[in-house]
Amino acid sequence: MRHWAGCERQYFGYIDSTNRRARMLARDGAPHGFICVAGNQTEGRGRRGRDWVSAPGLSLLLSIILRPKVEAASRPLFSYAIALAAADACEAACRLDTWIKWPNDIIIQGKKVAGILLEGEGDAIIAGIGINVKQKEHDFPTDVRQKAASLEMVSGKRIDLDWLEAALLDSIETRMDGADCLQAYRKRCITLGAQVCVIGENTWKGTAVDIDPSGALLVRDSDGIVHTVFAGDVSIKGENGYV
Ligand code: BTN
Repeated sequence: MRHWAGCERQYFGYIDSTNRRARMLARDGAPHGFICVAGNQTEGRGRRGRDWVSAPGLSLLLSIILRPKVEAASRPLFSYAIALAAADACEAACRLDTWIKWPNDIIIQGKKVAGILLEGEGDAIIAGIGINVKQKEHDFPTDVRQKAASLEMVSGKRIDLDWLEAALLDSIETRMDGADCLQAYRKRCITLGAQVCVIGENTWKGTAVDIDPSGALLVRDSDGIVHTVFAGDVSIKGENGYV
């Protein structure tokens, strides 16, 4: 039984961005677990200032307000809990191995099926989750077509949006209330052990060797020096598609 995730729900046929709305509601005191869900977004936001483009009725577009009672230093771990929860829900829907590309892209069969945007609002964290569910290849913008897929494309199954929303909320509660998820995250993270290209102020190559509790990725360069890289500062590309 679920206790708090989705305790209150606002649904919008169209909205600019569920994350933007959830931030406003969090400012006005909306409780831990409050969700905003939309059929479509006109200004969906992705990580690192990118857009998140969707079409009506094809995706699960959901933002949840989190008010975790933990010290600030542990907060990066919530990014891992939410990524694991999204991966759990996608895996349950598709019955296919589901991976996480650091920090929180959800990958099935080498394609990105979901993305997560975490934003702070005062004491609250807004976790915005976009899952591609019913798209066909031509529904994706041309620039992401090679890299993106929907759950129905990869699984060949029909997936119900309401069922997926419930599965996601169940997983969010389980992962957030459960034991330290860093170890579970490491097991699910395809970036670990891979050759990666770190794209920030400079671009360089290395091997992703670990994840640390502050949320950073540790990358060893060709001189053997291990660098700590933070998701807000760099983007990571695999040498062969997604890592
Ligand atoms: C990414 O991979 O860049 C993150 C994408 C996050 C998209 C979701 S859709 C629901 C929520 N509302 C937004 O505007 N963004 C997030």
